Amino acid sequence: MEVLVELQQVTKIYDSGAESPALDGVSLTIPTGRFTAVMGPSGSGKSTLLNLIAGLDRPTRGSVLVDGVEINRFGEAALARYRRARVGLIFQFFNLLDNLTALDNVIIPAQLSGVKRREAIDRARMLLQQLGLAGAERSYPARLSGGQRQRVAVARALINRPPLLLADEPTGALDSHSGEQVLDLLRDLNRSGQTVVLVTHDGGLARQYGDQVITLEDGAVARPGLTALGAAQ
Ligand SMILES: Nc1ncnc2c1ncn2[C@@H]1O[C@H](COP(=O)(O)OP(=O)(O)O)[C@@H](O)[C@H]1O
Ligand SMILES: [Mg+2]
Repeated sequence: MEVLVELQQVTKIYDSGAESPALDGVSLTIPTGRFTAVMGPSGSGKSTLLNLIAGLDRPTRGSVLVDGVEINRFGEAALARYRRARVGLIFQFFNLLDNLTALDNVIIPAQLSGVKRREAIDRARMLLQQLGLAGAERSYPARLSGGQRQRVAVARALINRPPLLLADEPTGALDSHSGEQVLDLLRDLNRSGQTVVLVTHDGGLARQYGDQVITLEDGAVARPGLTALGAAQ
C-alpha cells in the first residue's frame, strides 16, 4: 500500500485562549488510489483536517507529509504551488465566481498554473463533457442547478490533474438526488485511479462511499470499537 498523505501527531489550535484544540494529536494515513471518508459531528475538526492536507492552513504542532515531504515546512510560495499542482478542492457551497461562465470558472486553476489558454479550454471542455455538462460551457452559475454547479466545481478541481481530490461536505447544499450524483461521480473518478478524501457529517454516506472511514470526535481520531458502540446506542 502506497501512502499519499500522512499526518503525524497533528495538533491545530486556532486561538491560544480556546478551551480545546480543533485537532489534538491526529495521526492517520491516506493511501494512494483509495476513497477515504472522514466523518464526525459538526465542530469535530473535519474541515480543519482537510484544510491542513490542502495546504490552506498550517498545523500548530506535528507533520503533514505528502509523498513523504513535510508540506508544513514549505514557505508561502511553495505551499501555493503545492495547492495548485497537487490538490483539487470541492466545497459545500461550490465557490464558483458568479460573473464567469462555467467554462471560465473551470479554467482558472489551469491559467494560474501557466497552462496556455487554448490547452486549458480544451481540457475544460473535455471535463465538462465527461461530467455530463456538455452544452453548459457558456452558462453562468446562476442558471445552473445546484448539482450542475457542484459538477462545474468538480471539473475546476480536476483541471490541473491533481493526484489528490478533497471534498468538504460536497453534498451539504444539494437535494439527495443531486448529492448522490455528485458522490457517484467521485466514486467513478476514484475507480479510475483518483485518490479521494470525502468529508461528511453523514456516517451513512461515509460508510457507503468510503473504502476507509476515519471518524473524528472532538478533534481526535475515534477508535473504531468505540465508534461502533456509540452508533449502537
Ligand atoms: N478559523 C477558525 N478560527 C477559530 N476557530 C475555528 C476556526 N475554524 C474552525 N474553528 C473551530 O475549530 C473546531 C473544529 O472546526 P471544524 O474543523 O470547522 O469542524 P467541522 O468541519 O467538523 O465542523 C470548532 O470548535 C470550530 O469552532
Ligand atoms: Mg466543516
